[in-house]
Amino acid sequence: MSQAVTWSEPPVSLSLATGEVHVWRVELNQPDHLLEKYRETLEEHELHRASRFHFDKHRNCYVAGRGVLRQLLSQYLGTKPERLRFSYGAHGKPALGGEHENSRLRFNMSHSHEMALFAFAEDTELGVDVEHIRTDFASEEVARRFFSRREVETFNALPQHEQVVGFFKCWTRKEAFIKVIGLGLSQPLNQFDVTLEQPAALLWVSGDDASRWSLYDLEVGGDYAGALAVEGQVSGIRCWHMRSR
Ligand SMILES: CC(C)(COP(=O)(O)OP(=O)(O)OC[C@H]1O[C@@H](n2cnc3c(N)ncnc32)[C@H](O)[C@@H]1OP(=O)(O)O)[C@@H](O)C(=O)NCCC(=O)NCCS
Repeated sequence: MSQAVTWSEPPVSLSLATGEVHVWRVELNQPDHLLEKYRETLEEHELHRASRFHFDKHRNCYVAGRGVLRQLLSQYLGTKPERLRFSYGAHGKPALGGEHENSRLRFNMSHSHEMALFAFAEDTELGVDVEHIRTDFASEEVARRFFSRREVETFNALPQHEQVVGFFKCWTRKEAFIKVIGLGLSQPLNQFDVTLEQPAALLWVSGDDASRWSLYDLEVGGDYAGALAVEGQVSGIRCWHMRSR
């Protein structure tokens, strides 16, 4: 399903209606004073991971991503960002842990280049993906490596001027799917098919009923493509753009 989105200024008080998904678009090149504020909210293992990035810009994007995630979660939960604890699924999918382990709030995040997307909903698993569009990456050679046979055939059948868009729609939809199920790359990429055109959809998945899952495009803007995957259907997707303050 396609989602024509408007990225709005968020309201002061956040509330998630039943069946609704909130998606936040955040630029990760944050000013130093905010990076410092975010760093103060991170836990030891996050600071350790940040310290392992070779380049400052990658470290800063990681700190901004984790800091914003904590800030947004804390707004939905009415708590302080530094109080949050995470748990991780068998393949690394983060979820709320500690005192919020039983919360109904679900989330997922993705970052690429200087952009991040964060998705939040209640009681429904989410997978979100953003990718920086690089035209030279959208080749048949790369498609053969990552896409299913059916997806490669669809890619090759697209008019040449539609191939870059089709490639990144396929990539982000596949990535959102492997993230909603939490398997990451443990889910073989050739064991499910997504559409490359409209509407966004999971066409087939080995051993499961594809109609259980919904895919949505997120028009991120600039040189970015985005997709959201949810189990079941959503009643609405509200998109917020967070400005650096
Ligand atoms: C683990 C994986 C989810 C990472 O994806 P990615 O595109 O490298 O990175 P993204 O920014 O989209 O997502 C990373 C975030 O997803 C979350 N995440 C990690 N493991 C996850 C999992 N198993 N399921 C869902 N979300 C996961 C984390 O919040 C992570 O952020 P962090 O690194 O700051 O902790 C996995 O899908 C992967 O390694 N993909 C590699 C890219 C690829 O080959 N894609 C093929 C598409 S056709």
